[in-house]
Amino acid sequence: SDIYRAGITGSRPAAPVHPDALEHAARKALSAEAFAYIAGGAGAGRTMAANRAAFERWQVWPRPLRDVSERDLSTTFLGRTRHTPLLLAPLGVMEMAHAQADLAVARAAASLAVPYTLSNQASFPMEAVADAAPGGARLFQLYWSASDELNASLIGRAEASGCEAIVVTLDTHLLGWRTHDLDVGYLPFTRGLGIAQYTSDAVFQQLVRERARTSGPAPSVRMTPKTVAAGISMARKTAPITGVGVREGLRSPLPRAAVETFLDVFSTPALTWDDLAKAREWTSLPIILKGIVHPDDALRAVDAGLDGVWVSNHGGRQIDASVPTLAVLPEIADRVARRIPIVFDSGVRGGADAFIALALGATMVALGRPYAYGLAVAGEAGVREAVRNVLAELDITMGLAGLTAVSDIDRQALREVG
Ligand code: FNR
Repeated sequence: SDIYRAGITGSRPAAPVHPDALEHAARKALSAEAFAYIAGGAGAGRTMAANRAAFERWQVWPRPLRDVSERDLSTTFLGRTRHTPLLLAPLGVMEMAHAQADLAVARAAASLAVPYTLSNQASFPMEAVADAAPGGARLFQLYWSASDELNASLIGRAEASGCEAIVVTLDTHLLGWRTHDLDVGYLPFTRGLGIAQYTSDAVFQQLVRERARTSGPAPSVRMTPKTVAAGISMARKTAPITGVGVREGLRSPLPRAAVETFLDVFSTPALTWDDLAKAREWTSLPIILKGIVHPDDALRAVDAGLDGVWVSNHGGRQIDASVPTLAVLPEIADRVARRIPIVFDSGVRGGADAFIALALGATMVALGRPYAYGLAVAGEAGVREAVRNVLAELDITMGLAGLTAVSDIDRQALREVG
């Protein structure tokens, strides 16, 4: 209600409220390359479109006259009571959206008591993000690297810097066919951004020293698919890699060996379920698998003793014409049967979307691009605005549906179209 009151008294929001207007404002605030990277999807964009279209199959079924004056958005996730069922998804390379990048996001998230999943490809080392928002709940997202020592080191740092869980992203063992990025020359690689976790890591630095000594053939030979190879060769043409730096963790120019080491470890197409068992030895933190979209995989995660599944298709950035996440959520929820929490993302743009995902079995709903757009438009205040608007709409939708608690949001609150 404070949002309405602010509106009535004439104070303007920090960022546009309508999701399309927010995206439009971000497009204006960003360079063409940065907007392409953030907004773009894989291939012809069919998964992105399908993610949105999947919401059209479900409608909220309002029930008035049920006294909804006292509403409570709190829920339980990973053994703790959370203020709301919203979570911020990990977004890498946010320095493209704003110089304060992950620091601004962490502060905004903490101010709203929304847990923040820090990306493996963040623009600041995880310790700096922890310092920026000391009270905030954080999860660390890991891209499983080809080096076990590096995985163990990153997980150990996440634990030491106060992260509550490790989110292992499984849909990026090869980088997707990102048409928009290919068209503009793969900005993240050309700028050397998004590798602050690595450059601030002692194990990584050791790998770089070894790489510099042996200095084998260019890693682009080994990298698949062609996208990455093309990106690197383009990067070499457009910006000499030895002249690239990152904001924190490494202020001096980034040596070529560091970029090559990063490329060596980043792509892990040989990863299997067996490898995941190692993570258990490295940490006692809960482990959540991100990028699960098949019910059989969700069941396997339960059987393997994982602590959560995160239903995601990476916001449609990896496969063109992939299954939309909302369409597979009910079956996954049935199979998981509340034994472990389910995080849901890909295509959530407002509170009604979050309501639908909760009704179909999500424990927590994660937000991706909308908060990046808020960041681009107005930094920390913009992130806060984007997230707060989703929460406000969720609260209102719950009340108008005649419900007062997140645990009451179920399939009876929806009507299936057709
Ligand atoms: C992502 N995503 C992502 N996921 C991940 O596990 N690690 C990462 O570093 C990133 N980086 C990233 C950057 C950008 C710019 C985007 C848009 C997305 C995927 C992200 O966590 C989430 O799954 C999707 O963004 C959810 O879809 P929506 O909300 O953007 O539609």
